[in-house]
Amino acid sequence: MNDNKKQILVLNGPNLNLLGKREPGIYGSDSMETCFAALQTRFPDVKLSYYQSNVEGELINKLHEVGFSYDGVVFNAGAYTHTSVAIHDAIKAISTPVVEVHISNVYQRETYRHTSLITGACLGVIGGFGMDSYRLAIEALIQL
Ligand code: DQA
Repeated sequence: MNDNKKQILVLNGPNLNLLGKREPGIYGSDSMETCFAALQTRFPDVKLSYYQSNVEGELINKLHEVGFSYDGVVFNAGAYTHTSVAIHDAIKAISTPVVEVHISNVYQRETYRHTSLITGACLGVIGGFGMDSYRLAIEALIQL
């Protein structure tokens, strides 16, 4: 029954609309459309939706919109991970659990990527597994 399906949002922040074209040596050559279609096939019992924005406030608005009714958010905040107190506060403000996701292993990269301002507000973090990081985060939310 559709009504029993968990509802999970995959939320992507800035520059992640360019996945597949953007620095393929780091982020791979798959587009997010391909990745999201694979997730839908993989999780037929989850009501998955997808939203991407390059705008910080739009990401916050989306968190507010889903954050009291959805069962989980898989959130790659991109570079806002390292800069945004406002996104940290938005995650704290909602009741839906949020899993922080990164495609790359940020700890193998520039030191400014080693700090996340949002981890403390999230349920957990998954990173470094390429596009498979999204799948792993959904698995974690399903187990809850
Ligand atoms: C990223 C890592 C961030 O440091 C970077 O700004 C991104 C993508 C990742 O998925 O590996 O945009 O979140």
